Amino acid sequence: MKYVENKVVLIGAGAVGIAYAYALVNQGIADELVLLDTNENRTRGEVTDLNHCEAWAPSPITVTHGGYEECRDAAIVVLCAGAAQKTGQTRLDMVGTNVRITQDIVSEVMASGFDGIFLVATNPVDILTYATWRHSGLPSAQVLGSGTSLDTARLRYNLAQYFEVATTNVHAMIIGEHGDSELPVWSAASIAGRSLAKRIAANPQIEADIEDIYVRTRDAAYDIIAAKGSTSYGIGMALARITRAILSNQKVTLPVSALLEGQYGQEGIYIGVPASIGRRGVREVVELDLDEQETQRFTASADTLRTVMREFWP
Ligand code: LAC
Repeated sequence: MKYVENKVVLIGAGAVGIAYAYALVNQGIADELVLLDTNENRTRGEVTDLNHCEAWAPSPITVTHGGYEECRDAAIVVLCAGAAQKTGQTRLDMVGTNVRITQDIVSEVMASGFDGIFLVATNPVDILTYATWRHSGLPSAQVLGSGTSLDTARLRYNLAQYFEVATTNVHAMIIGEHGDSELPVWSAASIAGRSLAKRIAANPQIEADIEDIYVRTRDAAYDIIAAKGSTSYGIGMALARITRAILSNQKVTLPVSALLEGQYGQEGIYIGVPASIGRRGVREVVELDLDEQETQRFTASADTLRTVMREFWP
């Protein structure tokens, strides 16, 4: 793979893209960040504004505005471009418009000679990560999506608030579609070292309470979009976390949208699953020991995505 150390190209400098860009600068995650967006004037303003962070940033970073030729030697190209979800819409409602936009962008990126990693955030992210993989021709390890990383962050925050512990002490995960069919893996969850199952056994009320927490987690984006028009900071941080895992070759397991090739009984679908992430992208999909109900819900979530995929790849 021919790439410049820690160079990231961000395509789509809207609310999500800029939140991600600011997270990269603020956390010192990349050495070089190029913003690419159709609104050139606003993008130039964002670049100038971001460069004024460097004096107080933890490490140097060069932020510039550029074209697709900048992708040739990029380590990562992040896709945040597309029509944004509006009040009353589901993420899957965006699919028609955003598949076409994504395919056009991927063609331009690949024409540059890009051989790095695609990190997809545009919704519906599982479908568009699949579209990016199919259209780019890159190995599936080099194409991943934000998946349920944001949903997992929301779940961990909500559980931490409920159990009154630090979010870092909550080990719980959302898998499946980044959308209405996503599911919590309660069977593998633990809070501050004590399994959720043991906590429920000691206090059965918890079982009803965590179901409410799951619903609030699943529907969080609808509430935020109704209040402020879009979501941005949470997804920006999730993308920054995945970017750090790649550029620092962390080999950390995160819930991302990755291609299944038999895992969980699924083949040829991108969906939110735990995967080990390193410098060359997805190292391995981790197959959790789901219980019967979780397996049924995961299969139903995969079927939801397949139904939409068949419209575009019959
Ligand atoms: C959300 C968007 C990124 O869940 O789908 O906030």
